[in-house]
Amino acid sequence: MPNSESQHVARPRSPQDFDSYYESQAPWDLGRPQKVFESLLRSGQAAGSFLDVGCGTGEHALLAAELGHASTGVDASARAIEMARQKARTRQLDVSFLCADVLNWSPAQRFDAVLDCGFFHGLTDHDRQVWAETLKGLAADGCRYFMLAFSSDHPGDLGPRRLTVNEIADWFHGLGWTITHTSPRTYERIGHLPAAGILTIAQAPGRSSPPE
Ligand SMILES: C[S@@+](CC[C@H](N)C(=O)[O-])C[C@H]1O[C@@H](n2cnc3c(N)ncnc32)[C@H](O)[C@@H]1O
Repeated sequence: MPNSESQHVARPRSPQDFDSYYESQAPWDLGRPQKVFESLLRSGQAAGSFLDVGCGTGEHALLAAELGHASTGVDASARAIEMARQKARTRQLDVSFLCADVLNWSPAQRFDAVLDCGFFHGLTDHDRQVWAETLKGLAADGCRYFMLAFSSDHPGDLGPRRLTVNEIADWFHGLGWTITHTSPRTYERIGHLPAAGILTIAQAPGRSSPPE
């Protein structure tokens, strides 16, 4: 089984690149939620309407639905969304799985919680600005954003961009959001050693406590 970064193929750069990952075993596609998000969701921190951005095959959106939240997952990969919908049917869970490029997306509703597992860290500087604009349009007052990304503590430069606490803080502060939590966490992978990750929780202005 491969267990080193050297066996990681080229960094995906576009939704089309990601689609091809889902033809085989994508290294991030665990077939279950990341442990850090499983405990966060089960502890009730992501209440209200829930969006899993760059949801892949949907494990976090599916868990949110299992916990009773109105859950939406969006991904640009048609293959990933097809797999996510199949899981929802098999598990008899009600999740709205949408195939869309979120950098060019205006959803009809606003969300109380946004979960981002491995989406933001793949964005270019330009696309981070585009995502900031999209997020302003889809976040409800007091929306909470839960993000797991590769951290600058992760060695090498293969795979996604590494993020520092400061650049994450700058990005959220630019939006006018407050960082309520940041900590080093494991980013689990298939066929690779776990990556050094950063968990960030940020909150939009407008409401101090999460919705019921
Ligand atoms: C590293 S994968 C993580 C997938 C999933 N969150 C997980 O943890 O298994 C990043 C995902 O973001 C999606 N993605 C990247 N750019 C996107 C965009 N502009 N719009 C929607 N999805 C995008 C990719 O298709 C891919 O499924």
